[in-house]
Amino acid sequence: AMLGAKAGPLAGRRVLVTSGPTHEPIDPVRYLANRSSGRQGHAIAAAAAAAGAQVTLVSGPVAIPDPPGVAVVRVETARAMLAAVEAALPADLAIFAAAVGDWRPAAEQGSKIKKDGSEPQPLRLVENPDILATVARMQEGRPRLVVGFAAETDAVLDHARAKLARKGCDLLVANDVSPAGGVMGGAANTVHLLARDGAVETWPTLAKDEVGRRLVARFAQILDAG
Ligand code: CTP
Ligand code: CA
Repeated sequence: AMLGAKAGPLAGRRVLVTSGPTHEPIDPVRYLANRSSGRQGHAIAAAAAAAGAQVTLVSGPVAIPDPPGVAVVRVETARAMLAAVEAALPADLAIFAAAVGDWRPAAEQGSKIKKDGSEPQPLRLVENPDILATVARMQEGRPRLVVGFAAETDAVLDHARAKLARKGCDLLVANDVSPAGGVMGGAANTVHLLARDGAVETWPTLAKDEVGRRLVARFAQILDAG
């Protein structure tokens, strides 16, 4: 083996992972955010590094430590996440586990908005770029395997099938995030893996670390097969 080269099922592969929420500023002290601990995305990045890959993790604001052996790029907003993702390409495998804010305030106020005793002003929103769809539809330099996530609260598989087609990714990892499931912020996850040919795998409830390792093992198989 080459000096310094890593062994493992993803040896020699470049992997990009997004994780965590985004924060979309309203004013200097307030933001809009999604609920996301970053645990599942970080677990995937850690598992990919342990499998020998060269991993870049683009992470929104999270309270968990950086995974070992991974290059971490920290961002706040969806637009900054897209720019960091584009800068981190090319990659063989790209996994979009971040809970990206779908909308941002149309304008960020430079000064703190003050209560003034009258009705609060409505917040005007504009749509953020879709990072996954942007990468999945790249004409040049598209990663060979593009994986999306879907967090759904009902009709999980129906929504996931539609999302897989709409986004143009190769695989979609769907999970049920209805409050009863405790996925948000919790240590366990129940996922369904959907492929473009219609195949669906439903995995047992597993620790997010174990989900990360098993997903990475599947992605390595698929890359090796193709
Ligand atoms: N995603 C993204 N950029 C966005 C929105 C979503 O990269 N602006 C990615 C997520 O990281 C995830 C996938 O797209 O991999 C699906 O995200 P989700 O929020 O479930 O899908 P949306 O298309 O935003 O649909 P909705 O929230 O309306 O269900
Ligand atoms: Ca969304």
